Parts: sequence; structure tokens; C-alpha cells
Amino acid sequence: MSALFCRNKIEDYFEVKHLRRIDSTNDYLKSLDKSKLREGFVVVADEQTGGKGRLGRKFFSPKGGLYFSVLTAPKTQDLLDKLTVIAAIAVCDAVREVCGDDASIKWVNDVIVGGKKCSGILTETSENLPGFAIVGIGVNIGDSVDEAVRDIACGVKNVGKDTKKKLLCAILENFKSLYCDFDKSQVVAKYKARCSTLGKTVRVIDNGGKEYPAVAKDLDLDCHLLVFDEQNITHTLSSGEVKILI
Ligand code: BTN
Repeated sequence: MSALFCRNKIEDYFEVKHLRRIDSTNDYLKSLDKSKLREGFVVVADEQTGGKGRLGRKFFSPKGGLYFSVLTAPKTQDLLDKLTVIAAIAVCDAVREVCGDDASIKWVNDVIVGGKKCSGILTETSENLPGFAIVGIGVNIGDSVDEAVRDIACGVKNVGKDTKKKLLCAILENFKSLYCDFDKSQVVAKYKARCSTLGKTVRVIDNGGKEYPAVAKDLDLDCHLLVFDEQNITHTLSSGEVKILI
């Protein structure tokens, strides 16, 4: 637990800087003078012109969505390793609480509603910020979904003009409690309870780019996905991607 991050009131935990337009909130945080930064600093942008996703992909970030990055300073390797998992739980619960959508987590870090992705998470470290890790979160709201990805992405329900603010607060609140009182086995259990990938027939795209069909069976204690391929051989996936087939 970090003394700086874990204070008493939500306003004490997070200092939020708002930007209208930026290339990427993750890159913006990386460029700042580290002596002026502390854990809990948050940058939120109305729009990103160069939003980044995992695996070198773009994250379309038109006006109307929620795009932000949180600066963390995890004190243990376990906590660092689980930042994305914690963020996925925090987003999934916030979408359920604020928007009433039936959100779930698609392994490894997408939050989905009705089979489509409404949120993605990109956790990064930077040489410019030793000891820190940046958790970048994007949530599409309403119709703030770029045409190029409408077949696979959706927006969470827009519940009024404060949707964005309410979502941001709920995500930060959820993130804070999982981060400050970090308990790895509890976090993995919570992730598992929200993970809709389990039991599904999937197409695995592993780190080497190899693709094969499999059934997603379980998560291990590190949140790695256990899949059975067509020869009934078990593979343990620590990263990579799965596409849900059935
Ligand atoms: C993914 O789905 O592959 C990850 C998407 C992460 C998007 C967020 S939006 C805020 C932050 N800034 C970025 O450039 N990316 C992350």
C-alpha cells in the first residue's frame, strides 16, 4: 500500500487535470517532469488524436467518450502485474453501477457489453518515470464510437450529461479500493466472476502470432487463461489475445 495514494477522501487520492485535446493521455503523462508528479495524478482528455491500444493498435477516441490515464507507483511486483486486471474490474463494475449495462470482462483487458468492446486498458511504464506505472483507460459512451470499429465496438449507455463524470469517479473509486487494499487472490476471484470468456470456444492468437481454435477453461492464480486446443492439450496464456467464436 502506498501512503500517498491511500488517503481518506477521493479528492485527496486523485488530482485530476483536464485537457480538451491531446494525442494520447498516456504519452502526455510520460512527457511530464517527474519531480512534479505524484501517485494518483490523473489526466483526462475530451478527445485523443493518437489514442493508443494494445499490440500497437489505435484506440479511436472521438469527443463524447472518456479517456484518461492514472499515475500509480506500485510497491510490489504482484501489484504492478495486476494493474490491468484491477482496472478491468473497476471499469466493469462502474459501467454496471452508473450505466446499468450488463458489462463483463473479455480476457485479458477488454470490457464488453452485448458482445462488443466498450472499453480498453493500456498499462505502460516509462524510463522517464521510474517507479511509476501509467494505467490508461478508454470508455466509449453512447454513440462516441468511430465508424471504423462499429462492428466490434459499442458505447456504454449514456445516462445524461454527467455520465462521463460519474463514470470517471466510479472507476477511480473502484480502482482505489482494489489497489490500496490489494489482495491478489481476491482480485483474481473478482476478475474471474466477471470474466465472460470462460467456457467459450475461442480463436487464440498467441504472442508469436500463431492462431488456433480452443475452449477457454479457467484462469490460474495469476489470471493467466487456460485453454484446451483441439488435441485436448492445455495452453496457459499470459498475454496475447482470444476472439470469441461461440
Ligand atoms: C486497448 O483496448 O487495446 C487499450 C486501449 C487503451 C485506451 C486508453 S484511452 C486513454 C489512454 N491513452 C491512450 O493513448 N490509450 C489509453
